[in-house]
Amino acid sequence: MCGIIGYVGDQSALDVALNGLRRLEYRGYDSSGVAVVGAGALRTARRAGKLANLEKLLAESAAADPMPGTTGMGHTRWATHGGPTDANAHPHTDCTGAIAVIHNGIIENFAALRAELEAIGHELASETDTEVVAHLLEVELGNAAAAPAAAIPEDVTPRPTRPGTAPASASVPGSGEPVGRVAEPGTHPLTVALQRVCRRLEGAFTLVVLHRDFPEVVVGARRNSPLVVGLGTGETFLASDVSAFIAHTREALEIGQDQVVEARRDGVTVTDFAGEVVEGRHYHVDWDAGAAEKGGYPYFMLKEINEQPTALADTLRGRLSADGAIVLDEERLSAQDFRDVDKVFIVACGTAYHAGLIAKYAVEHWTRLPCEVEMASEFRYRDPVLDRSTLVIAISQSGETLDTLMAVKHAREQKARVLAICNTNGSTIPRESDAVLYTRCGPEVGVASTKTFLGQVAACLLVGLYLAQVRGVLYGDEVAAYVERLQRMPDLVERTLGRLEPIRELARSLADAKAVLFLGRHVGYPVALEGALKLKELAYMHAEGFPAGELKHGPIALIEPGLPVIVVVPSPRGRAHLHGKIVSNIQEVRARGARTIVIAEDGDVAVEPYADHLIRVPATSSLFAPLVTTLPLQVFACELALARGLDVDQPRNLAKSVTVE
Ligand code: F6R
Repeated sequence: MCGIIGYVGDQSALDVALNGLRRLEYRGYDSSGVAVVGAGALRTARRAGKLANLEKLLAESAAADPMPGTTGMGHTRWATHGGPTDANAHPHTDCTGAIAVIHNGIIENFAALRAELEAIGHELASETDTEVVAHLLEVELGNAAAAPAAAIPEDVTPRPTRPGTAPASASVPGSGEPVGRVAEPGTHPLTVALQRVCRRLEGAFTLVVLHRDFPEVVVGARRNSPLVVGLGTGETFLASDVSAFIAHTREALEIGQDQVVEARRDGVTVTDFAGEVVEGRHYHVDWDAGAAEKGGYPYFMLKEINEQPTALADTLRGRLSADGAIVLDEERLSAQDFRDVDKVFIVACGTAYHAGLIAKYAVEHWTRLPCEVEMASEFRYRDPVLDRSTLVIAISQSGETLDTLMAVKHAREQKARVLAICNTNGSTIPRESDAVLYTRCGPEVGVASTKTFLGQVAACLLVGLYLAQVRGVLYGDEVAAYVERLQRMPDLVERTLGRLEPIRELARSLADAKAVLFLGRHVGYPVALEGALKLKELAYMHAEGFPAGELKHGPIALIEPGLPVIVVVPSPRGRAHLHGKIVSNIQEVRARGARTIVIAEDGDVAVEPYADHLIRVPATSSLFAPLVTTLPLQVFACELALARGLDVDQPRNLAKSVTVE
């Protein structure tokens, strides 16, 4: 939700920022903008709409103003406060035009801050919450300049800016070097000003700021919103995620909660908001730039759908030790902690929530522990009953979803143990949890989740088996038998993907449909929900998922002649009792004129007479079936959206990482 990149080094900051934004655009595409400090000036450019609009603007103005400079930043926006207009696009500047700010998140007390600023003569030009930060920095730098010399760190050369007055220039134009003494790391005037401003902000924010007179630094800060540092040789990057700088460096530093980072060419200094120097966690990014490219596919989503066998295999690989234990990535929970669990809660949003619903069937079946699944946005507001023997599993691809993060914090406050299932190394949710199991799906750029859903389901299955094993509910050889079947799943996923041409054709023929219903039973029900969500997100089509047994309690009134109804059928072998019931449900909707599209395993002949369209998937164990039955639904939604001429990588109104509540 908003993508951010900041840079200081010796490359063209404009090029670095634009390349970074191309990789971050999935985080929001309502507008974009850049700012560059160079030749004694701060230049900004911004445009509503997709990044292409900004690129066009920059291309048109390049001859007159190439935006020289090697310190800069870029922003791609998902609008919260203020519509997606040029005026609301970031960066935002102060009265003097010396300070530029980009922001991801929501500053909840911005109205009060804005009123305070207006009362002392500041004129704000946008409707955003962000702009107040530029003006507050202006005030702080002005105060620092006006303060008695003794109050200002000795080794700092402050450069004042005041509303309506031009600040004293403190850099040699074009040199990129500051004039005067260099501040101690972490005490640069811009850093100190940002620390002070952050202490006044409420809400969630990642901020990156630049100053015309300080080309030697880019300063960032974060609270409940992502910010990572890329450590290059003679250059440093600040970004919402590593994909923005992975082409330059794979060495990264996590920035913790309520911290400010001062980035220079030679490295960074991290402080808390009070100015105390703190340690960041250094890590190496183990995927390369190619993983975040389209790799010959026209859309990331098509690539990511096809990467699912690998994503699944990588998520399972090495996860079982010789004695059958699941290997957690960060072991802050012991086997005894898992034995002490008497209740499981799963919290997640959207697609991750659907993975959690599937997990519930497995966890309860294997462990005999009660398991509740809750949308993270509702969890903490209804005061759930939690204690130290509750295990909360938080599922999040990005590791930054604010609803899920807040649920994690709430659970830990109530002393529950929290295990994160996450795809993004170094993100906030794993850091705030007791332990993490990473899904190793690689970067997912398409805004709608596909491969990470499969990774999440697989990780949940591993956790369910582990719980059953350490608690002695399943014997080691039973766990081993399940694991062996799980390990065959990447191959079945591959085979399923290879036979989905019929659903592609069908999707194209349904491009003009008004609505689609999805029905399922048992784990087929969350799969139906996921199929409906994919269709809403990608094709902007009305779509609903229901438990097939619930149909007769109301939704059957929606059935009208020709309405496509997709039915996810459980295995006639594993779930014979349910299978017979769903065959009846198919007949019920067909009798009322629905066009039935039936997803059934190979050899299931009972559905044939009632299927207007039959999509076959390989036979699997019941609890593992979502790993294959989801695939035709992903492909259906993607193909139908493409047939409607829509952008499947960047559906309207959405963003990949939702860092507002
Ligand atoms: C749907 C989708 C979203 C996310 C949800 C949670 O395709 O991608 O519904 O699943 O916003 O995001 P994460 O998993 O990053 O917490």
